[in-house]
This record gives sequence, structure tokens and C-alpha cells, in this order.
Amino acid sequence: QPTPDARDPFGFVGLTYDDVLLLPGYSDLAPDEIDTTSRLTRELNLRVPLVSAAMDTVTESRMAIAMARQGGLGVLHRNLSIEDQAYQVDLVKRTQTGIITNPVTIRSDATLEELDARAGQYRISGFPVVDADQKLIGIITNRDLRFTPVAEWAATRVRDVMTPMPLITGSAGISREEATALLRKHKLERLPLVDAGGKLSGLITVKDFVKSEQFPDASKDSQGRLMVGAAIGYFGDSWERATTLVEAGADVLVADTAHGNVRMLIEMVQRLKSDPATRHVQVIGGNVATREGAQAFVDAGADAVKVGVGPGAICTTRVVTGVGVPQVTAVYEASLACRPAGVPVIADGGLKYSGEIAKALVAGADTVMVGSMLAGTEETPGETVLVNGKQYKSFRGMGSMAAMSSRGKKSYSKDRYFQAEVTSDDMIVPEGIEAQVPFKGPLATIAHQLAGGLHQSMFYIGARTIQELQTKGRFVRITSASLQESHPHDVKMTVEAPNYAG
Ligand code: XMP
Repeated sequence: QPTPDARDPFGFVGLTYDDVLLLPGYSDLAPDEIDTTSRLTRELNLRVPLVSAAMDTVTESRMAIAMARQGGLGVLHRNLSIEDQAYQVDLVKRTQTGIITNPVTIRSDATLEELDARAGQYRISGFPVVDADQKLIGIITNRDLRFTPVAEWAATRVRDVMTPMPLITGSAGISREEATALLRKHKLERLPLVDAGGKLSGLITVKDFVKSEQFPDASKDSQGRLMVGAAIGYFGDSWERATTLVEAGADVLVADTAHGNVRMLIEMVQRLKSDPATRHVQVIGGNVATREGAQAFVDAGADAVKVGVGPGAICTTRVVTGVGVPQVTAVYEASLACRPAGVPVIADGGLKYSGEIAKALVAGADTVMVGSMLAGTEETPGETVLVNGKQYKSFRGMGSMAAMSSRGKKSYSKDRYFQAEVTSDDMIVPEGIEAQVPFKGPLATIAHQLAGGLHQSMFYIGARTIQELQTKGRFVRITSASLQESHPHDVKMTVEAPNYAG
């Protein structure tokens, strides 16, 4: 179906998830042969092709950590200051690492009060103690604080209660096996690593080693740290935001706007992919919904292209502007530009059930980005509220009045909707709404259902790998009567399933 250039409203039919089903195919697979590994960008793979949306009610560091542990990726939203967003990147990178290469340290003359504040800030329970030259002189953990009453913390120095050298340490180039043996033999919780001059070069913690066994699919960088993405814009101090996020360790920068086929944003992607400070990082361009929009990012050197104009659960872009492309067609159209260039596609928004992941992948995507399906999980920002005895969490569009207005705190979200220069809240034209969603418990349960659903799709289609799914998958277009048949019907549902709420 060619993209039309005429104004004939009947010439180009757009389809979305509810308009299609996948045909079952011959399968001789054992369930454990199925591998859901897929390409996130030109250079990065995910074991589970799931990305959490860069929304301020979905992805901050807790969600990003949980997503990476499950084999997906979290994209930290950008409705916060550059420092706060970089700090969130740092929190993810410091979690579950093989070896922490730049551990947070403390000086021996710091007070216990300062130590406690630092522990809270980085959410860690112990520090190597170093002198001005970074030489390791001791270690201090929660345990060392227990015998000093809180009232004395302001007057007590770290050096008074730390465990001083000599400590059991490892050499800078220690292997995982050697480190495990040392931790075991000496029943240690932390193993500081030092170079020949006695300077601290790293830290290994037992907790991280255990975690890495607990999450075998985790998405990790070359140093064994969890992978994380971060959203950026194109306006104002966006370049500073991008470089600060790269310095903090972001693996992926996501050009995050509602309409990516815009000169300034395309130039931003070009600059990110050519500047020595940023070109080693993977850059995703978005959002587009046409072949032409995707081609512009491919030409700009983007490492993946994100697709979706208006399909999101809280989006009103399509009704406010009359612009958008139904998501299955949008993904297919974008893939026509991306596939030949080897650039992965991310289908962003509009997914309601696990079965739609396979539909997106067959249409031409390589991963999916989800907001509403993860909203309400424990790891999302915000508190739960009780309404009629049921727990809820809030979920809002990044183009909603609340996210774009200056009520409460400064909004960094406006330029996503090209309204950065609108100074008065009364003048904002929102493109999203605010909502409440039922509390859903831990992300791991939801992620299991989503990955499990995809696994089942692959079995039904007879696809061992995502690539096979993409080549073997065939659509049948359905009617609204068929859609009704697909859902439970003619019964009164009595119990919600973990992957179907009705
Ligand atoms: P789902 O359906 O998974 O979609 O919740 C998440 C995606 O929705 C986009 N998004 C918005 N789109 N107005 C819009 O038109 C908004 O206020 C808005 N907020 C988020 C975004 O692409 C996200 O990943």
C-alpha cells in the first residue's frame, strides 16, 4: 500500500492493533527454544523487547532499574532538571553492577550526620573511606553506626567508628571467580579494589553478585552495569542535558517529542551522532508515524526510530489536532524506511494487551514502548491513593495540563509539544489527560505476563526468534464483530486474570 500524496481520504487506510490478528503457523518448537532477544538500537539488544515510556508517572530510576533487571529498558523522563535527571541515571548505573568502578566514597573527617545524608542520597549502606589522594584508609557501613546514638552523629567523625586498614582488598583487575572466593572465605559484604599505589579503584558487593544471578536476563552494559535510557529535547539547554546525561553514564539518548519530523530535532540527532562527546552513545529519534519521518532520522544517523503519533492511552493529540496514523500502519510505514537501513523501530504507545507486542513486531517494530500497561506498578513515581477501598496511582500524559503547567514545580515538558515559549498556563494547548489507574503491584509480575504473552505468540506462529516472527508473521484484518469474539463475551467475568482486566 503506497503512502498517498493526494488528499483522497479513502486512498490510505490506517489500521491499528484491534483491526488485525496474527495467523497461526506450523510449530515444532519446544517452549524453551524460544528466544525473545531483539534489537533496541543498531548496537544494543534486549532479551525482552520492552521499553518503559519516558513519562513522569512511569519512568524514574526505580522503574528503570526494574525494567533493566527484567531484560528491558527504562527511559527516564525529562520533566525534571538536568541535574535531577543525571542523578537518576547515576542511581541506575550504581545498582547491580559486577564491579562498581567509581564507588561513592566518604572522607574520614566527615561527620556521621553527613554520612547518613550521603547514604540516603545514593541509597547505599556503606562507603569506602579515602584520603585526599583517593587512597583507601578504611570502610564504614551501617553496622559501624549502630553503637553511636543518633544524638552524637553530628559530633562523631567517620574515622572514629570506621573499620580502618588493613582490610581485605582485591586488586584492580580481579576476576569474578577470585572476587567470589575472597567474599566467601572472609564472609565479606564488600570488597574494595585497590591499585598498586593503594588508591581505591573499585568496589564489589555481595548483594550485586547475588542480584546478577537472580536476574539472568538483565540488560547490562560492557561493564556489567544496568542499562538505562534518558529522554532529551531539542530546545534551550538540550545540548547541555544530553552531554550531562552521557557523562552520568546513559547508554541511550531518546529524542523525545510528540512530532519528530522537525528540523531542529533532526539536527540534534545529527549533532549527537557526530560530536566526539556523544557519538559513542546510542541515539533514538522520535516520534514519527510516516515513512518520510522515519527516513529523515535514518538519514540523520539515528540508531533507532520511535514510532507513534497519538496512540497512547492518555493522548489527545489526534483529537486536538486531527493528526496521527493508526499504530500498526504507522509502524509498517516507518519500517519501510528503517528495515533496508538496518535501523530498528520502536512501536511507542497504544498497547493494551500482551498480544499486541507480537502484532507490533510483525508490523515492523523491533521493540515496544509502553506507558499505561506499566502505570500503577509499585516502581512508578508517586503515591498510591485509596478510592472506595481500592488502591490507585496517577498516570498522566506528558502533554497534559498538569505536566505542562507551572503549577507546583517548573515544567520541562512543554517543548515536547512545541510550546516551550508559552509562558502563561492559560495559553497552553494540552495534548494529553490526567488519569488514575489501579495499583498493579510489582513490575516483575507485569513484565512476566508481557514477555510470557510474547513467548506464547511466538509459539503459535512457529517462530524461534524475533527475526523469525518478523518474517513468518502474517496478518488477517478483522471486523468489529471479530474483535468482540476475541475478547471474553456473553459471560460475566468473576475474577480478573493477571493479564486481563476486562
Ligand atoms: P501508552 O498507550 O503505552 O502510550 O500509555 C505511551 C506513550 O504515549 C505518548 N505520550 C503522549 N502522547 N499526549 C500524547 O499525544 C500526551 O500527553 C502524552 N504523554 C505520553 C508517549 O509517546 C508515550 O511513550
